[in-house]
Amino acid sequence: MQTEGGWDADGKGKSVYDIRPATADTSDWKFANDNYHHYTEDFDLMAAEGMNCYRFQISWSRVNPTGDGAWNQAGIDYYSRFIDDLIKRGIQPMICLYHFDMPLALAEKYDGFMDRHVVDAFVRYGKKMIDEFGDRVKYWITFNEQNLYFMPGASVIAGSSKAPHTADTLYTIAHHIMLAHSQVVAYLHKTTHDQIGGMLAYAEFYPATCKPADVQAVRKTDEFLNRDLLDVFVHGHYSNEVLTYVKNHHINMDWQDGDEKILGATTSDFLAFSYYRSSTINSDLIPDDTLVNEWPNKGDQANPYLKTSEWGWQIDPTGFRDVIDKLYDQYGVPIFPIENGIGVREEYNGTQIQDDYRIDYHRAHIQAMEDAMFEDGVPVIGYLGWGLIDILSSHGDMNKRYGMVYVNRTNHDLKDMKRIPKKSYYWFEKVIKSNGADL
Ligand code: BG6
Repeated sequence: MQTEGGWDADGKGKSVYDIRPATADTSDWKFANDNYHHYTEDFDLMAAEGMNCYRFQISWSRVNPTGDGAWNQAGIDYYSRFIDDLIKRGIQPMICLYHFDMPLALAEKYDGFMDRHVVDAFVRYGKKMIDEFGDRVKYWITFNEQNLYFMPGASVIAGSSKAPHTADTLYTIAHHIMLAHSQVVAYLHKTTHDQIGGMLAYAEFYPATCKPADVQAVRKTDEFLNRDLLDVFVHGHYSNEVLTYVKNHHINMDWQDGDEKILGATTSDFLAFSYYRSSTINSDLIPDDTLVNEWPNKGDQANPYLKTSEWGWQIDPTGFRDVIDKLYDQYGVPIFPIENGIGVREEYNGTQIQDDYRIDYHRAHIQAMEDAMFEDGVPVIGYLGWGLIDILSSHGDMNKRYGMVYVNRTNHDLKDMKRIPKKSYYWFEKVIKSNGADL
């Protein structure tokens, strides 16, 4: 929804984003960067730069307007052409099945992933996409940043805005989403030779000091927000520490007979993650009785050793290498960083945007990744930046630009949506064509 636009084209149903209005500081979600109508032009830019993999999300309500009803053939045909057009240019598609845009009908009727009916609807949708595209698409992920559903306030991205924000709600949604993930993974493995992986938003966490309580807060945060899910992705069960917490705190996560079996069959062909920054946790800032899932937000403190983007995100390539190393050392499957970049305010005034800060950011992170690969021995499948072309930020703000190609629109003026390569586009071309040797 940050990219596609075409919000009502060719029989698409509404998603929860389509009814969100613009605000003084953000756009609405109807047009995004209008990739729906510009995709061949965008793919030409990717091919000219040398990109050989592109991750995109299928809009669930485009292929199934109510989420659980009849298929919209025009929507399926659209993605079929889209995939063919990528492959024709030597670009391997990676499909993400869900990036926060719940079909509106499922949000209104069932409160999104609070209800197991929506788990079943998602699994039906996932299976259909695998049947349609599994022969052409080799890499899949189910949920974008699956651990975000495990953080308070994130129920909205699961299409759930009615249930009160309690521990029960949080753990129920996270569990339902894991059940949906596991069933789609099982189906993909049964019916194709494609690869599928779990995906997290994996910020590196540091203790604010070497005080044991700070170090413990970091370890527990990692256990609850990362390892609990990674343990299912790779080993098929939740973390013992988290399950003990659920029991001791009488949290109702809607655990039912048969769930253990569904999760138990889960495996990951790779582990994927997004990485933008690291965070620092000061245990003194965390009020007593705060749910562990909330500790990184409550305990967040600026790290004096790192530079910060204008949006307050702390830039840390060393943390990127550590995350790659940790994931592989602990789980032993190939690693795939699939989001990494920096958001900056930029304005085109007729001359090429000189985004040296973006070049510096990617150079440092790719170098860190190469160190993880060649000094630490981690098998890394690839590097997907965020992103090639300017899109709306996750909050709908066109001012926070991540692209190597400028898109000529603002929050409230769609202008001509023209694509204009920035300096980093040409730098990246050189990096890709030298396979990372010429940074
Ligand atoms: C990730 C999301 O959390 O971060 C993207 O998967 C998002 O949707 C990206 O765009 C960067 O965050 P933001 O808020 O700067 O767009």
